[in-house]
Amino acid sequence: MTVLALETSCDETAVAILRGSNGDSAAELLASEVASQIAAHEKYGGIVPEIASRNHLVHAPRLLKRATLEAKIDMTQIDAFAATSGPGLASSLMIGASIAKGLAIGFSKPYLAINHLEGHLLSPFFGEGEVRRNVSLVVSGGHTMSIFVRGLADYQLIGRTVDDAAGEAFDKVAKMLGLGYPGGPEIEKHACGGDPARFDLPRSMLDSDNSSFSGLKTAVRYLLPKLHGDFLADLCASFQQAIVDVLVRKTIAAAQKYDVDLVTMSGGVSCNRELRRQLAEASVRAGFDFKSAEAWLCTDNAAMIAFAALLRLQAGFESKVTEEIDPNLKVA
Ligand code: KG4
Ligand code: ZN
Repeated sequence: MTVLALETSCDETAVAILRGSNGDSAAELLASEVASQIAAHEKYGGIVPEIASRNHLVHAPRLLKRATLEAKIDMTQIDAFAATSGPGLASSLMIGASIAKGLAIGFSKPYLAINHLEGHLLSPFFGEGEVRRNVSLVVSGGHTMSIFVRGLADYQLIGRTVDDAAGEAFDKVAKMLGLGYPGGPEIEKHACGGDPARFDLPRSMLDSDNSSFSGLKTAVRYLLPKLHGDFLADLCASFQQAIVDVLVRKTIAAAQKYDVDLVTMSGGVSCNRELRRQLAEASVRAGFDFKSAEAWLCTDNAAMIAFAALLRLQAGFESKVTEEIDPNLKVA
């Protein structure tokens, strides 16, 4: 079974082609193309939905062509077409979903509407045939949530941020510090060699299932005017460590509460090497297996959407082509 998926939920246009093998149920990625629009939005200091959707329209046909060439197949050999149907920007979601629906209708093949968050939360299992029971931390620019995963399509929300997502806090603090966008990789780079204990920044709502990162962001804002001399590396390291502490503590507590054997992590912020290292160590210390999405799968891509679609297709799921996109789609 070969699936073609589009991801256009925000400012990344992505197309992937994934083939599921019958025998050992592992999947083979035939093509994965991502076109970033960071440069187009940078001068506005944020994502402009109108510009994002126009760019998706420009990039998608080109990426579709490149992906089929790379995969050495033509559209008639695709068994199902999938697209992210939410959550995200309505005008962006619409482009990918419309293209996938059009292809599904044109080639008389099934259509699968995929939740972007399901794409992230299944990505630690990428290429595997089975989704193990686990507690999953999905941590990106738009979302910070822990989810109890019983298996494919069986998810329960444990907790989420009540204000900023962790990635959003990285991006906003990076902006305050005059660093580039996206802020996460910039802060990680500058934190290297810095002292994570120099600045005492708040860790909020530590004993709740939910989390909050806006107080941390505000603490940095109030601290900044008081700082002089060489502080950037120490501040980046202290800020990063505050986020890592909160995420690690909550994820381990959730894994204990839901009595799982496995902790997983995905989403853009899970690229962060300190977070990967410290959550892996804490998981092992607490007696859990740990599995993070591979770094190339952490930020937005279509391979994770194709993978969720393949697993759903193999399990007998299919969507109606009349299914609408939903900018506020929930995963649990
Ligand atoms: O998953 P993603 O590509 O898009 C969303 O669905 O939001 O995540 C993007 C977010 C941005 O906020 C970015 O700053 C953050 O992931 N990010 C990082 C790192 N790489 C990306 N945050 C911390 N450390 C990183 N290395
Ligand atoms: Zn994402």
